[in-house]
Amino acid sequence: MTLFKSRILSTGMYVPNKVVHNRDLEKIVETSDEWIFERTGIRERRISSTEGGEFPSDMALAASLDALKAANLEPNDIDMIIFGSVTPDFKLPNTACVLQQKLGITNNCAALDIAAACSGFVYGVNMADSLVKTGLMKNVLVVGSEMLSTEVDWEDRNTCILFGDGCGVAIVGRGNDGDKSEILSCTLGADGKGAEFFDQPIGGAVNPITAEHLINRTHFMHMKGKEMFKVATRTLADNARVVIEKAGLSIDDVDWVVPHQANIRIIETTAKLLGINMDKVIVNIEKYGNTSAATVPIAFHEAIADGRIKRGDVVLFDAFGAGLTSGATLLRY
Ligand code: UT7
Repeated sequence: MTLFKSRILSTGMYVPNKVVHNRDLEKIVETSDEWIFERTGIRERRISSTEGGEFPSDMALAASLDALKAANLEPNDIDMIIFGSVTPDFKLPNTACVLQQKLGITNNCAALDIAAACSGFVYGVNMADSLVKTGLMKNVLVVGSEMLSTEVDWEDRNTCILFGDGCGVAIVGRGNDGDKSEILSCTLGADGKGAEFFDQPIGGAVNPITAEHLINRTHFMHMKGKEMFKVATRTLADNARVVIEKAGLSIDDVDWVVPHQANIRIIETTAKLLGINMDKVIVNIEKYGNTSAATVPIAFHEAIADGRIKRGDVVLFDAFGAGLTSGATLLRY
């Protein structure tokens, strides 16, 4: 039941001011700039201030205000906020409600957090697409905002070198008949069998944090990198093919791929599997590392801002993360 077209009206981003270079990490764990850059493509990442002003809702506020301005909308034109994050401001209330208040929205818009890890933004866009197409919502603010620096063990070189903080947003809104831009096709999925490849089992209802966990440092995120790597490339390539086929297009019709930025080798392998030249792939992992739900919207926003992605271009979002969740979107920007 498609009544309306949906399209991306605008985007925004915010990254923390503090830059942490690989060389800074050499002082904390046994690693090297060379190893990190060669194995992951990461050179530096941004880390939020713990003093305030750069928590997930703060970053989302800055990014959302830019996106609202670019779309020529007022905060009260938003009728739903979907907040993708595994590092919410609080357990309660949800961060979408916190953002609603920070934006000064007084229209009682719906506010929902989704915990789909690195696929959170793509999950949000695809859900927003359905809500706009069916006419239930007109303008949905979709956020990917993460402060992973509080969840990684800075003594564990397997994870701490990979992640960073940041936020990207997009407003998904109703399109008009004459618009050439529209969301063409979506896919979402998950495979809970791989849950243990990337988890943080301490701190929830089953295992509340105890002093022992804090002493033994077992409350942080853990990842089996090799297992994640293998599933990631296969899933990213499969989902890309699904949305391209659903839209009745071919791989050659895709102008830009905006993939989740977890590892440059995952991105290159996926591009190879799809037969897509790396010239068409947006990569910014060198500057920000893996910001989970924020990687796709930050990369998308930067490529629009620097003029690479233009209105009318066919763009593929492709994400994969803990859960294991995954999702892809094909759109004409
Ligand atoms: O966003 C969610 C999705 N995230 C992912 O999918 C991440 C996927 N996985 C990866 O990106 C990669 O598996 C990693 C970057 C995490 C690891 O790369 P790898 O090529 O799989 O390295 P490895 O774990 O096989 O380690 C190779 C060697 C080992 O030494 P030995 O056993 O060969 O002597 C490690 O101990 O590199 C060592 N090593 C390090 N050396 C320096 C592991 N981590 C580091 C490090 N610095 N930080």
